[in-house]
Amino acid sequence: MITLGIETSCDETAVAIVEDTYSVRTNMIAAQVHLHERFGGVVPEVAARAHVEALTPLLAEALVAADVGVGDVDGVAVTVGPGLVGALLVGMAAAKSFSLATGAPLIGVHHLEGHYWANFLAHGPPAPPYVALIVSGGHTMLVHVLELHHHVVLGQTLDDAAGEAFDKVARLLGLGFPGGPAIDAMAAQGDPRAIAFPRAMAASDDLDFSMSGLKTAVLRHVQQERRAGRDIPLPDVAASFQEAIVDVQVTKTIAAAERTGVDTVLLGGGVVANTRLRDRLTGDGAAAGLRVLAPPLELCTDNAAMIACLGAAKLARGERTSLDIAADPNLRLAP
Ligand code: KG4
Ligand code: ZN
Repeated sequence: MITLGIETSCDETAVAIVEDTYSVRTNMIAAQVHLHERFGGVVPEVAARAHVEALTPLLAEALVAADVGVGDVDGVAVTVGPGLVGALLVGMAAAKSFSLATGAPLIGVHHLEGHYWANFLAHGPPAPPYVALIVSGGHTMLVHVLELHHHVVLGQTLDDAAGEAFDKVARLLGLGFPGGPAIDAMAAQGDPRAIAFPRAMAASDDLDFSMSGLKTAVLRHVQQERRAGRDIPLPDVAASFQEAIVDVQVTKTIAAAERTGVDTVLLGGGVVANTRLRDRLTGDGAAAGLRVLAPPLELCTDNAAMIACLGAAKLARGERTSLDIAADPNLRLAP
């Protein structure tokens, strides 16, 4: 069975083709970062226009690369939310048209469920129950997956997402956009214990997160050092900021696993590409007796392989999506 996947929820135009759910025939991305970096963030209108330009040629290229004819496609998976509405609409219009023209059924999928399904491509599908930590540019959440496609949200951020915090602090430090990879690289030269930034909500009983206090603390520190005329050691600030985020994520993720009694944790989302977060979660997780799975780097950030894989599994269960489905920028994982 051949499934086409289309992902346009944010600033990556992505097309993938999978065979029999877990085997990737091709996984292509047309990145737009060069269009957004001068604005210091993703501009929704610019993203949507760039998807319109890039998607159809990329789709044609993916079919050739996978050696798949239009008529060979058995199903079309597409991200229907959450994400930027104008960006989502481009991918959805293309997927619907492809489905209508070929007769291959449409399947709409949830972007965040796709993020932790990226693990299934690399490690095979683990048996539920497990906990998923999803950390991206727009979301930070811990989810209990009791059975396939059945989610209970255990906790989430009360303000900014972790990726957003990386991006904002990087901007403050003059490291450019996107901020996550820049801080990751800068932090590698710094001392994570140099500055004691707050570990927001680390001691709270719940599994929620908050980034705003940390962000303000970094801003205050930088302003204070500048006012005192001191040079700001960027690697130390980056490493200390990153460590504060990572500490809380690790503590809460292990707590979530203990609370739910699962022995497997799946990581997903762009921030999982962070070197320190991966190392700490796998290391501390193993020490706590947990099996912690992370996708390979190229499947952490937005891609269509995870969407095609999840869509193929849903199609195999007999699920179908109607051609009149709307994009939902705030689509939830659980009611
Ligand atoms: O999942 P993703 O590609 O898009 C969304 O669904 O939002 O995540 C993008 C986010 C950005 O905020 C980016 O700065 C962050 O992931 N990111 C990282 C790293 N690579 C990407 N954050 C920390 N360290 C990284 N190495
Ligand atoms: Zn994403």
